[in-house]
Amino acid sequence: MANDILKGKRGIIFGALNDQSIAWKVAERAHEEGATFVLTNAPIAMRMGEINSLAEKTGSKVIPADATNVEDLEKLIAESMEILGGKIDFILHSIGMSVNVRKGRHYTDENYDFTMKGFDVSALSFHKVLQTAKKLDAMNEWGSVLALTYIAAQRVFPDYNDMADNKSYLESIARSFGYHYGIEKKVRVNTISQSPTMTTAGSGVKGFNEFINYSEKMSPLGNASAMACADYCIAMFSDLTKYVTMQNLFHDGGFSNTGVTQEVIERFSD
Ligand SMILES: NC(=O)c1ccc[n+]([C@@H]2O[C@H](COP(=O)([O-])OP(=O)(O)OC[C@H]3O[C@@H](n4cnc5c(N)ncnc54)[C@H](O)[C@@H]3O)[C@@H](O)[C@H]2O)c1
Repeated sequence: MANDILKGKRGIIFGALNDQSIAWKVAERAHEEGATFVLTNAPIAMRMGEINSLAEKTGSKVIPADATNVEDLEKLIAESMEILGGKIDFILHSIGMSVNVRKGRHYTDENYDFTMKGFDVSALSFHKVLQTAKKLDAMNEWGSVLALTYIAAQRVFPDYNDMADNKSYLESIARSFGYHYGIEKKVRVNTISQSPTMTTAGSGVKGFNEFINYSEKMSPLGNASAMACADYCIAMFSDLTKYVTMQNLFHDGGFSNTGVTQEVIERFSD
């Protein structure tokens, strides 16, 4: 269903790796809703080449950028404005990676070089994107910047490991940068806390299959899909949510406010 609610809007979408990626779905929906945008991902992810089919489908250009590298970001944002013909209205930061998780290091036995790398990619990169956009005066008033997060930022999910700390920091950046960007440029900054979703990043977490089933049973509406997440992102990029800023928005079928469900209780009955 398309209503052109992003008609005339220009954006930058980080993080479409393959057709399971949340960013991929956001790009498809943004295109349907009339937006034009640049797709970007880390140069290493580009080698897999799948992003080119998304670019073709959505009439977008692809610009490689490592989100931890400020020079790459400056180039990306400046070129995006040139390609799209003006300032940017929305940015999606859909980036996450933990080297400790990848290498199977326990939370109580972190390799701190791994920790710093994961922190830079998953959290600090959001600040770098915002700071670069602001310095280049790249965003239109009422523009909307979103990052994706997970409830492990607030509550313990042991196997989420150091990503929990990264997500806490990411959500804090949305509040702090959102304050300054709001006052100075009327740009809004939010995070969306999404249900567990079967993607490359998601399935890297140990026990993910069991966990996604548990979450499904603990959410009155069930887990939110990547497509539903994309719909929410579109709403947040549109002018229908102009006064929402500095928030962490749960998009999780009610999981975050549920103590227990009848279905889960029944599993423990003798
Ligand atoms: N899948 C889930 O269960 C889930 C739940 C809540 C939040 N999230 C968040 O959603 C976001 C998107 O993840 P996804 O689930 O779509 O998985 P994904 O693996 O498809 O996307 C992660 C992206 O991060 C990119 N990336 C990694 N390092 C980068 C770098 N240095 N520079 C630029 N890009 C880089 C990857 O190339 C990839 O495209 C992440 O922030 C993730 O933590 C995912």
